[in-house]
Amino acid sequence: MGLAGRDVISILDFSRGELEELFGLTDRVREKLRKGDLGKPLEGSIVALAFFEPSTRTRMSFESAALRLGAKVIGFTSEEATSVAKGESFADTIRMLDSYSDVIVVRHKYEGSAKYAAEVAEHPVINGGDGRQHHPTQAMLDLYTVRELFGRIDGLTYMLVGDLRYARAAASFALALSLFAPKTVYLVSPPLLRMREEVMDVLRERKLPVEEVEDPAEVIEEVDVMYVTRIQKERFPDPMDYEKVKGSYRIDLELVKKAKSSLKILHPLPRVDELDLRLDGTPHAAYFLQAALGVPLRMALLLSVLGVGV
Ligand code: NCD
Repeated sequence: MGLAGRDVISILDFSRGELEELFGLTDRVREKLRKGDLGKPLEGSIVALAFFEPSTRTRMSFESAALRLGAKVIGFTSEEATSVAKGESFADTIRMLDSYSDVIVVRHKYEGSAKYAAEVAEHPVINGGDGRQHHPTQAMLDLYTVRELFGRIDGLTYMLVGDLRYARAAASFALALSLFAPKTVYLVSPPLLRMREEVMDVLRERKLPVEEVEDPAEVIEEVDVMYVTRIQKERFPDPMDYEKVKGSYRIDLELVKKAKSSLKILHPLPRVDELDLRLDGTPHAAYFLQAALGVPLRMALLLSVLGVGV
């Protein structure tokens, strides 16, 4: 497959065809897991997890993916645990990991950090989230989840709700949708948290049918997939701005009652207070399935970038 040796920095580095191939491989991986005949295709490989920023799902699902494939995992979960705390540079840290492993997954609070790591490292670098910018593997698993639920990604109406300004998962999902042909993509956020112009420019250039809306109730009846994100408190340059928007949106059972019975709700998680817990027990809730699918999707991705077939 064409992804061998490739870095994974932005979802737009991939074509629709490449993503469809990845989804097909994810299906095969799941089937083999079910049958118990996957074997250990990555035995002898080492996956490095360089997490300079907190993470639960991305880090642990990559770790689980690597272990299920028979690879070994090295890495760290905070800067404090590395020599960065002694003043070592990001580039030197990546250089070391590059010589200790076959592929590096990086998460960092700065935009552009994964791209920079890819310039320094010989082995493939996978972006596990760089600041507010990109989160390509999340976007891959989000699309895969929609495909799993609806059998297709095209022709559906999407609503992205919440902090569209600072949530890299939302930006990456919108960019990912621009590789497909959704019917409409509604962007719903308080004015202070609208999608950044630089992302909107790309979406418009790629002719994604986007429409900005302030109140989800206006369009809820049309929506097939609702994608919710939490307010990214840690990314606000001005804490006063956070105070202004804190608690400003919440998806609750009352709103969802007006939706199609087939509506599915996705959320990259973690959630804080933006999603009514009473939704968990409804057929709309797809966020735990979404989190679970992160493992086989990332298994398929590791196999692809390491050029190993199953
Ligand atoms: C997201 C992230 O880190 O960007 N989480 C994740 O990877 N599943 C979303 C978030 O932190 O809100």
